[in-house]
Amino acid sequence: MADTDKVYIFDTTLRDGEQSAGIGFTVDEKVEIALALARLNVDIIEAGFPISSPGDLAAVAEVAKQVKGPVIAGLARAAVGDIDAVWEAVHHAETPRIHIFLSSSDIHLAQQLHKNREDIMEMTRAAVSHAAGYTSDIEFSPMDATRSNPEFVYQLVEAAIDEGATTINIPDTVGYAIPAEFEAFIRSLPEHVPNMHKARISVHCQNDLGMATANSLAGILGGARQVEGTINGIGERAGNASLEEIIMAIRTRADFMNVHVDANPGGIYSISKLVERASGMMVQPHKAIVGKNAFRHSSGIHQDGVLKMRETYEIMDPEEIGIPGGSSIILTKTSGRHGLQSRLEALGITPSDEEFQRIWDAFLDVADAKDEVDDRDLMAIVAEQTQIKIEDAWTLDLVQVSTGDHGTPTATIRLIGPGGEVKEDAAIGTGPVDAIYKAINRVTNTQNELTEFSVKAVTEGIDAQGEVTIRVETDDGAYQGRAADTDILVASARAYLHALNRSIATAEHEAAAASV
Ligand code: KIV
Repeated sequence: MADTDKVYIFDTTLRDGEQSAGIGFTVDEKVEIALALARLNVDIIEAGFPISSPGDLAAVAEVAKQVKGPVIAGLARAAVGDIDAVWEAVHHAETPRIHIFLSSSDIHLAQQLHKNREDIMEMTRAAVSHAAGYTSDIEFSPMDATRSNPEFVYQLVEAAIDEGATTINIPDTVGYAIPAEFEAFIRSLPEHVPNMHKARISVHCQNDLGMATANSLAGILGGARQVEGTINGIGERAGNASLEEIIMAIRTRADFMNVHVDANPGGIYSISKLVERASGMMVQPHKAIVGKNAFRHSSGIHQDGVLKMRETYEIMDPEEIGIPGGSSIILTKTSGRHGLQSRLEALGITPSDEEFQRIWDAFLDVADAKDEVDDRDLMAIVAEQTQIKIEDAWTLDLVQVSTGDHGTPTATIRLIGPGGEVKEDAAIGTGPVDAIYKAINRVTNTQNELTEFSVKAVTEGIDAQGEVTIRVETDDGAYQGRAADTDILVASARAYLHALNRSIATAEHEAAAASV
């Protein structure tokens, strides 16, 4: 297939995804997700919006330093300070990109920016030309393009290319477009923009009407050769186009799409889990590609068909996406380190020696409690043991709870603190989890508000691990925490400490970045 048929995958999980209400990634999480995206072989990673905070600038810089392979982009408004901040962060990358956006719709111009079209034209030219002083890899996005006057968008795009933009991204910022209309608009660009051949067309679709993936594919049919999106479709409001859906749609319907992607689908499932635990946003069971039910068959007729031939009701092979469960290999505590290591390798998980040791210790605990450890258990263990590599400020040494339908739930907590000191306290609560969290607050001398708490079983069976996901609000933001254990109260305590440690790490990182 000719290279003109390649669609470049632009991942914005770390920027648009992070703009989801309630999400804030730590630097370590950004780097970990970016490394996983590089293994997935995406072409471009938008790592953040550096002007938004010194912490985000430092996080984008860290991604640029550590992640090799993909282009590393940072987002900027059409303003010198924003563009300078992006360059400060991304210049460390092997291939850096500056992505500039500026609204083009009349509603944004009149109601938000208080500018006229001439101002916008001038700002676009000045911004792209300033960025061209740094790099030749410049992306320009006329924000709210799908609600803008098409003639004005054509003129802006022409001016941006004239000043040096090499990618023109057409955002459906508020998820307003209808696929056939969006395809026609993308198709019209080369006809109306004389220098369009000098830049690659990109599409960026939000999901307000549930059409982000459909619009992205329509944009590709219309001639776009870069597509933007996020893992699990996280993003502003109803989210962004889901990259796993786009990648698998292009692969599964290559016969119709006539394009290809270089992304390697085998890493999709594990990166979906990584983003799930780092963002605290759980994928709904019926989510395409990565949802729990995406490859489960309930009705007798479907089961009958799949048993006779998988393809009767499955258009993709779950193993191609890296979904565990097809394996009949069950680990037990007698399996040994080598057995665990080779199962992890088969799942595409390559932990460092230090992470492997933690995974091994946790595996032995789970194997002790439930005899057989399957791939889903392993994924939960790996998720917890490889999450945040911050020096854990607080770790759990003991949790003991007394509860029941008579009497007051009481929890005793013993934690090991930042300098290795051991601290213990007890509290009562409205229930056992409340008592645990109050006791932790007493030991750590913090006050957080718990805003979300959920627990779900990792596998079937009475001995299943319970996976607890929580969100706490502190003065400076919202933090999610996650942990799995065969005892859900232990998992609850560890999930809370995970969130607490993330908030401490973020505060320390922000303070360090601000003092530079
Ligand atoms: O939705 C949008 O318009 C954006 C741009 C910055 C590309 O996120």
